[in-house]
Amino acid sequence: MHRKTPKQFDVLIIGSGAAGLSLALHLPQSVQIAVIAKRALNEGNTFYAQGGISAVMDVEDSVESHVADTLDAGAGLCDEETVRLVVEKGPENIQWLLDEGVDFTRESPSASGYHLTREGGHSHRRVIHAADATGQVVESRLESQVRERKNITLFEHHNAIDLIMGGKQGIPENPCLGAYILDRRAGQVRTFVARFTVLATGGASKVYLYTSNPDVSTGDGIAMAWRAGCRVANMEFIQFHPTCLYHPHAKSFLITEALRGEGGRLLLPDGTRFMPQFDKRAELAPRDIVARAIDHEMKRIGADCVYLDISHKPADFIRGHFPNIHAKCLEFGIDITRDPIPVVPAAHYTCGGVITDLKAKTDVPNLFAIGETSYTGLHGANRMASNSLLECLVYAQQAALEIEHQLPASAPLPVVSPWDESRVTDSDEEVVVAHNWNELRHFMWDYVGIVRSNKRLERAKRRINLLRHEIKEYYSNFRVTNDLLELRNLVEVAYLIINSAQHRKESRGLHFNIDFPNRDDRFQRAPTVMIPDNYQPLDLSG
Ligand code: FAD
Ligand code: SIN
Repeated sequence: MHRKTPKQFDVLIIGSGAAGLSLALHLPQSVQIAVIAKRALNEGNTFYAQGGISAVMDVEDSVESHVADTLDAGAGLCDEETVRLVVEKGPENIQWLLDEGVDFTRESPSASGYHLTREGGHSHRRVIHAADATGQVVESRLESQVRERKNITLFEHHNAIDLIMGGKQGIPENPCLGAYILDRRAGQVRTFVARFTVLATGGASKVYLYTSNPDVSTGDGIAMAWRAGCRVANMEFIQFHPTCLYHPHAKSFLITEALRGEGGRLLLPDGTRFMPQFDKRAELAPRDIVARAIDHEMKRIGADCVYLDISHKPADFIRGHFPNIHAKCLEFGIDITRDPIPVVPAAHYTCGGVITDLKAKTDVPNLFAIGETSYTGLHGANRMASNSLLECLVYAQQAALEIEHQLPASAPLPVVSPWDESRVTDSDEEVVVAHNWNELRHFMWDYVGIVRSNKRLERAKRRINLLRHEIKEYYSNFRVTNDLLELRNLVEVAYLIINSAQHRKESRGLHFNIDFPNRDDRFQRAPTVMIPDNYQPLDLSG
């Protein structure tokens, strides 16, 4: 048992992507903050974002239009209040990024002064970007800003295991008191105590065999919140991005939707364009439609991939707008100014997550969730392109305001029990972890992927029940490692995805079940809410 003194902060932010770092920067400099990152600070989905951030920046565009497009993409499941909040606060959050020193691609002459690109579902050009590496530019700038702040302590290569709950420390309201966190380099579990804890841990797409996400995206925040008693919503809506580079050595490399926004066309191996047959918006239909069309065509003709072609545009234009994609594809012998790009769909974005209110508060007192790990109601059954980074920014701002408001009256930090590993030993069979991880990602891809059926979901359910049982036993006997922690969370998230998919007996947005191929009005405006056994409704009377 480690008896080291707990680390104490006002605010513990678990996650260092756009959501976590923006929150840290919004909070006053008098607040003592810890930011936790599982690997290097900049490793997460944010760094790999390409297309950009949607916001109403053009005089021809309007809040009403952005709201309408988001609601339309969300297929009847968005929360309109949330959509309005996010869209209305878009421009001021872009201005905040500009003030922090983020350098977006400029265009002159143009009303905003910036080049706005277009992506699927958007009826206007409203995506501000930094060429085709928006995430890298945003994340790097936020990183250099937080590194300068004296009130922010950064803990890289630290993996949060579980939230510390007040109930176990004798506090009846069961608030969150911080988290137990594995210092990966020291191999020791440390206790972090905080007045407020914020989950900003990103998505869960690593639950699938093929994904655009980096390795850290294992749904840890969703699993931790679920174990702590938070409700989780809409986990069946996993977004598959239509166009990831198909090449044996290209791990998770995305070909941005902006390439279609600037005229790229999807082709079968024989050069035939196929999207106009599926939707009048063709290549710019929302992602669920494009990904399903590609999946359908690949299965119909037995192809390993389809092709995305922008070679009809001038070479200078292509190199200017998509310098990183151009360079990356060249590494694999594909010159996108001349050749079509082989692409396949891959798991990209987790639309569901930890339920929050408009202030980013979860069901557990003193626990917030922001960014991809949360469910705010913005995305409904399908997220519109480039609305995610916007949600990260707006909810980081919302959480900062609420935390600042609550801090003066917050309870002093209590004494909490240290992490107890007196009953575990080192594992003698780590192969179990690798094997189960592999199995999980394969069956999730095969049975709970772009096209689902009752039978496939039932198969997945049987397997996940077995894996959950096995991992639970393994976890209680052996000392924690990073891989074991990630697998434990992935299994929990897969369980939530499968159960949510079984609950939704219709097809809507990103969830398509061949046994219920149509929308059912009874599910209109009804998110799928999963309630954990230890859920304790908040007493709002006082
Ligand atoms: P992330 O940026 O994923 O950060 C998660 C953080 O949590 C990381 O620091 C990680 O280390 C940490 N973490 C996770 N688990 C733990 C743990 N247990 N302990 C400690 N730390 C932990 N969206 C757009 O709006 N526009 C785009 O152009 C766009 N392009 C994309 C391109 C790609 C390739 C991908 C993968 C996504 C893209 N998205 C885009 C989606 C968007 O990037 C993400 O939804 C968004 O960046 C999520 O930000 P976040 O801060 O919530 O999480
Ligand atoms: C992309 O650039 O295609 C990704 C945009 C997004 O996921 O919002």
